[in-house]
This record gives sequence, C-alpha cells and structure tokens, in this order.
Amino acid sequence: MAKYNLLVNKRRYQAEVADDTPLLWVLRDHLGLSGTKFGCGIAQCGACTVHLDGTAVRSCVLPVSAVGMAEITTIEGLSEHGDHPLQQAWCDVDVPQCGYCQAGQIMTAASFLKENPNPTEEEIVEKMSGNICRCGTYHRIREAIKVAASKSH
Ligand code: FES
Ligand code: FES
Repeated sequence: MAKYNLLVNKRRYQAEVADDTPLLWVLRDHLGLSGTKFGCGIAQCGACTVHLDGTAVRSCVLPVSAVGMAEITTIEGLSEHGDHPLQQAWCDVDVPQCGYCQAGQIMTAASFLKENPNPTEEEIVEKMSGNICRCGTYHRIREAIKVAASKSH
C-alpha cells in the first residue's frame, strides 16, 4: 500500500492503495467518481476512458502508480455545468440508449476534438472505433461529434 496524491477534476484527493491498483478502481471505489465505467478491464472497450493531461487513456489498465503528477479529468469534470459542446450535442442528438458506454465515448471524443477540431467523417469513425457500444448508438455518436465540431468554429 502507498499513499497517492491525485489531482482529479482540479481537486486534490488522497488514496491509500496498492501500487498496481488500476486508476479506474481508485476513481470509482476510493474517490466516489462513478461516472467512469468498467466494461472489459483489458483496454478493449473504452468505457473507462478518462483524460490524463488532456489525453484519452484507458483507466482500467493504468496503474495508479503510473499517474504521477498528471492531471486527471473524468466525465464529472469535463465541464463545470455539464455544458461542454459535446455534452450539449449529445443531448441535442439524444445519443444514449442504456448510457453505459457514453462517458467513455464523450471523453474519447473530447480529447480527439481538441487535437482535431474539424474532423472528417472518416477521421471520426477511425478515432471512435475503439469505443464499443452494445446498444449500437454509433450513428448518433458520429452525428453529435459533427454537431459539436460545427459549433466550435
Ligand atoms: S473497461 Fe477499460 S477499456 Fe474496457
Ligand atoms: S448506450 Fe448502451 S452500451 Fe452504449
């Protein structure tokens, strides 16, 4: 066990956990940030996606000991009032079905749009292809990303 000081959604947290504890479990079980979901646990579905210094990472396979000083952002901290352009577009397009995969989808899309604010359809498909949705909301996800991108310029 070791004590970790983590900066999550601009707040400081402490967690005493084993070094190899995946960040996902620290977020959910120790910090109570349950917006980030567990899907596969082996980096194959994207449900657990969070940002580390703005880059999308899979928190189910990231040991807490590898986080260091990096700033973590979860779906709870993506915007102050749930009004990130992607969150607004998600509502406008009515994307979710069961909702389980959606935090991961939005976090992947948010880091992608920061790198590439004006993506083509192909780029969206490629970038989002690692985020699985059992409900098959892929078409609406792509639509919402296009809506968010169009509003950012
Ligand atoms: S739970 Fe992390 S990628 Fe599936
Ligand atoms: S909305 Fe149900 S898994 Fe994606």
